Amino acid sequence: MLWLGICLFLLGSTQSAPVGPDDQYQIGTGIADVTGPAAEINMMGYAKLGQDTSGIHLRLFCRSVVVVDNIGNRILYITADLQGIAQILKIEVVKALEAKYGDLYHHENVLISATHTHSGPGGFFQYLLYIFTTEGFITDSYQDIINGILTSVDRAHNNLKPGNIYWSEGELTDSSANRSPAAYENNPKEEKDKYKYNTDKTMNVLKFTDLNNKPLAMVNWHAVHCVSMNNSNTLISSDNKGFASLLMESDYNAGQLPGKGPFIAIFSQANEGDSTPNTAGARCIDTGAPCDFITSTCHGKNEKCVAFGPGKDMFDSTQIIARKQYQKAKELFEGNSQTKLKGPIQYIYQNIDMSNYEVKLSDNKTVKTCKPALGYSFGAGTTDGEGASMFQQGTHVGEEPKFWDFVRNLITTPTKEITDCQSPKAILLPVGEMTFPYQWAPNLMPTQLLRIGDVVIAGLPGEFTTMSGRRMRDAITKAFADNGQKVKVTLSGLANTYSNYIATYEEYQMQRYEGGSTMYGPHTLQAYIQQFTYLANNMAKQTRVTPGPVFPNLLKDEITLKPGVVLDAPKIGHKFGDVLTNPKDTYHKESEVKVTFVGAHPRNNAKLDSTYLTVEKLNENNKDWDVMATDANWETKFVWRRTNAVLGYSEVDVIWNIPANAQNGKYRIRYFGDHKNILGHISPFTATTNTFQVVSTFYY
Ligand SMILES: *[C@@H]1O[C@H](CO)[C@@H](O)[C@H](O)[C@H]1NC(C)=O
Ligand SMILES: *[C@@H]1O[C@H](CO)[C@@H](O)[C@H](O)[C@H]1NC(C)=O
Repeated sequence: MLWLGICLFLLGSTQSAPVGPDDQYQIGTGIADVTGPAAEINMMGYAKLGQDTSGIHLRLFCRSVVVVDNIGNRILYITADLQGIAQILKIEVVKALEAKYGDLYHHENVLISATHTHSGPGGFFQYLLYIFTTEGFITDSYQDIINGILTSVDRAHNNLKPGNIYWSEGELTDSSANRSPAAYENNPKEEKDKYKYNTDKTMNVLKFTDLNNKPLAMVNWHAVHCVSMNNSNTLISSDNKGFASLLMESDYNAGQLPGKGPFIAIFSQANEGDSTPNTAGARCIDTGAPCDFITSTCHGKNEKCVAFGPGKDMFDSTQIIARKQYQKAKELFEGNSQTKLKGPIQYIYQNIDMSNYEVKLSDNKTVKTCKPALGYSFGAGTTDGEGASMFQQGTHVGEEPKFWDFVRNLITTPTKEITDCQSPKAILLPVGEMTFPYQWAPNLMPTQLLRIGDVVIAGLPGEFTTMSGRRMRDAITKAFADNGQKVKVTLSGLANTYSNYIATYEEYQMQRYEGGSTMYGPHTLQAYIQQFTYLANNMAKQTRVTPGPVFPNLLKDEITLKPGVVLDAPKIGHKFGDVLTNPKDTYHKESEVKVTFVGAHPRNNAKLDSTYLTVEKLNENNKDWDVMATDANWETKFVWRRTNAVLGYSEVDVIWNIPANAQNGKYRIRYFGDHKNILGHISPFTATTNTFQVVSTFYY
C-alpha cells in the first residue's frame, strides 16, 4: 500500500494543473547544421571503399520539434540528415540534455531518427561494423553531429509557443519501387492480397501551427530509401528527403537561405527497408537485359545488375524524387482533410536484449532471437549499390562460396549455436561473436512509442521492410484497439539506434540483402512486434515499464587509423585563396559558372551553420553585396581536390548553376577557407572572384 501510494504520488507529481484547452500545445522548432568533414572521409551508407567526401552539394541538417501538452507532458522529435542514428549519438545527446535541462529530456521522451542519406561522412558509430570503411572512429564527424543536434534542440527548446497540431494522410504512389520483390513475393498470399502495392505508399503528415494557424513546422513519414545519389557520388548530400525539406522550407521562409528557419519541414523515414527511389528499376548494365530475379545478378555477377532513378543522372533523379515527396507533403499540409489533435502527450520506452529475446509464436511455441550475424547476401549489397563481387543475394546456409568461407574462418568461425539460430542464413560475419578489439554490433535495442492525442509514433531501431512495417503498424493499432482506443500509428524508421534490416520471417527465408542483413535471426520481426505490442498495451493502460538494460558506452575504446590534416600549403608562386580560374564577364541564366581557387582542407573548419562559399549580388545601392546562395543551396557545388598530398596542395571549385529565376545584375563568388600550418595553427582566409553579369537568356 505504501509503495502504491508512493507510485501514485510520483505519477501525479509530473502533472500540473491544465494550462489552456487540451487541443492546444506548446510547440518549439529548431534547425542546425550537422554536415561534418567535407573531405577525405568515407561516406556512410554504401560501405564502399574510396567513396570519400570531396565537397558539398547539399548541407546536412538536423531538425527538432518540442511538443508540450496542457498538463506539461513533453516530447522531443528529432530527424537528422544522416545514414542512421548511432547508439552513441542517442546516449551522448540525452546525457548532454539531462545535464542542461534536468529531467525535461531523457531517453524515454526523446526520439532521434535519420533520413538515411547515403552521402554523408561516416565514422560516428560506436560499433566496429559501422566504422570499418572509415578506418575507425572519426571524432570530428561525430562531434559535428552531436553539436548540430544539440544546437537544433536548444533552438526548439527556446522558442516554444502555443499552437495547434493537425494530422493528415495520403498516398504517394510514384516515388518508390520494391528492390527485393523475390522476397516480398514469399509473404503469404492472403496478406499480399490486402495491398495494392509492393511498397508502402503511405504518407502521414503532422502540421504544426501557431494559434492563428500560421505554419511553424511539418513532419511527414514516407518509406523510400535516400539512395538517389549513388555510390559514385562524393559530394555531401542530404539526398531526396533533404532536398524535399529545403523545397518546402523555402516556400514558408521567403527570402531565407537554406537551414535558417524559422519554418522547418521534416521528411522522416518509415518502413523503407526494401523501398528504393530508383524507380526505373534494375537491369544488366552490359546487355540491358533484366537481372536474375532471385539473386539480382547478370550472368552470375552482382555488380552488373544496377538500378536507376527516373532522371537523366543521379542529381536529376534526386530532385525528381524530392519534388514528388515535397508536392505530396505540401498538398496534405495545405489540404482540407486535416484532423486537429487533442489530448495528452504520452511516451513509453524500453531497451531490450535483441540477441536473446524470447518470442511466443502464434502456435504458442517459444523461440528466441539470435546473436547478431550478417549473411553472404549482406556482402552482396543491393541493386542500389553493389557489395563485394564474390557474393550474391539469395545465398542460403550450405550454399556459401567455399573459398570465402575459408577466408572468413581465418578471421572468425561462427559457432554452431549462431549458425543454427540464424539458419537459413549463410553467415558471412557473426558480428555478435566478434569482440576484437571491441564489440562489432549492438545487442541492446531501444523500443519507443510517442503519442500526441490519437497519433502514435513508433520509433523503429532499423530498416523495416514494407511488409514488416505493415505488420508492426497493424499490431500496434490492434493493441490500442484492444484497450478501446482508436489511434493512428506512424512508423518512424531508423530511430535511436541503427541495426541494419528487419525482414519478415517469410522474406528472411529468401535471404535477399534485407534478409541477410536481418541481424537477430528469422524471428527478429516477431520479437519487435511482441515488444511494441507490450509497449502499446502499457501506454494505453498508462502503466510504466522498466527502462531495461543500459546501453554500453564504448567511446573510450574507439580507435582510428585515419590521420587528420597534416598541413596545407599553397602551390608555388601562389597564396591561399588565389583565384586560378575567374568567371567570364557575362552568363545567361540556366548556364553554369565554374571558378577555381587555391584551397585548403575543409576538415580544418566544418563551417557549421555557415558556408565555404557565397554567391553574392551587388545591391541596388551599388555598395553592398547580398548573399544569394551558399554551399547549402541546390544550385551550388563546393568541390575540393588534393593536388599534391605530400606538399599539402589543394584546389577548390565553386560551381553555380544559375537558376532560371535569378535576378539580372552584377555578381561575384567568394570562398571562405581555413589553412593549417606545420605547427597545427589554423588561420582563416577569404577569396573573391572578379565580378560578372547575369543576364536573361533572351537578352541577345
Ligand atoms: C551513378 O549515376 C551516374 C549518373 O549520375 C551514372 O553515370 C553511374 O553509372 C551511376 N553509377 C551507379 C553505380 O549506379
Ligand atoms: C495458446 O495458448 C492460449 C492460452 O495460453 C490458448 O488460449 C490458445 O488456444 C493457444 N493456442 C494454440 C494455437 O494452441
